[in-house]
Amino acid sequence: MINFDKMNCKMGQKIRWGIIGLGNIAHNFVKDLAMVNDAEIIAVASRNIEKANQFASQYHVKQAFGSYESLLQCEEVDVVYIATPHTFHVSVALMAMNYKKNVLCEKPLGVNKDEVERMIACARENKVFLMEALWSRFNPAI
Ligand SMILES: NC(=O)c1ccc[n+]([C@@H]2O[C@H](COP(=O)([O-])OP(=O)(O)OC[C@H]3O[C@@H](n4cnc5c(N)ncnc54)[C@H](OP(=O)(O)O)[C@@H]3O)[C@@H](O)[C@H]2O)c1
Repeated sequence: MINFDKMNCKMGQKIRWGIIGLGNIAHNFVKDLAMVNDAEIIAVASRNIEKANQFASQYHVKQAFGSYESLLQCEEVDVVYIATPHTFHVSVALMAMNYKKNVLCEKPLGVNKDEVERMIACARENKVFLMEALWSRFNPAI
């Protein structure tokens, strides 16, 4: 469960999302999150600031960053969605959790057991939420 106290969320306040890595799946994620009442995307980050600005303007997102770390330094962001290629999931997720950000990471979480174990240990150490974005887990049939 996401710990709302840790996120300093007040009753009725939306969960504030940041998106890291603005490729194909990030566009799908934004469209899906628009259907979630208690969520809002407040920041996006790309390695390229022009791409971040373009993405932010397309989806009316308040803040755009030209580096992943600068988004993680944004105190308003409660949780980040990591949509980089899978070989970069571990480095970005560890950095995010060390900034005390909750993390929803695209699948696969890591490329091997060691990476996943390091990510879980980091989540426990920082007391943040970590989850692989495995939508089928929430399919009522499953
Ligand atoms: N597409 C799908 O249907 C789908 C489905 C399930 C899972 N996934 C997972 O989602 C993740 C992203 O998939 P995607 O299809 O969205 O990939 P993509 O279109 O290639 O986008 C990945 C993004 O990651 C960032 N990135 C950071 N370092 C990079 C590097 N060295 N080379 C290339 N891109 C880099 C880039 O964003 P910036 O340029 O903005 O930094 C890029 O746009 C993968 O782990 C994939 O397995 C995708």
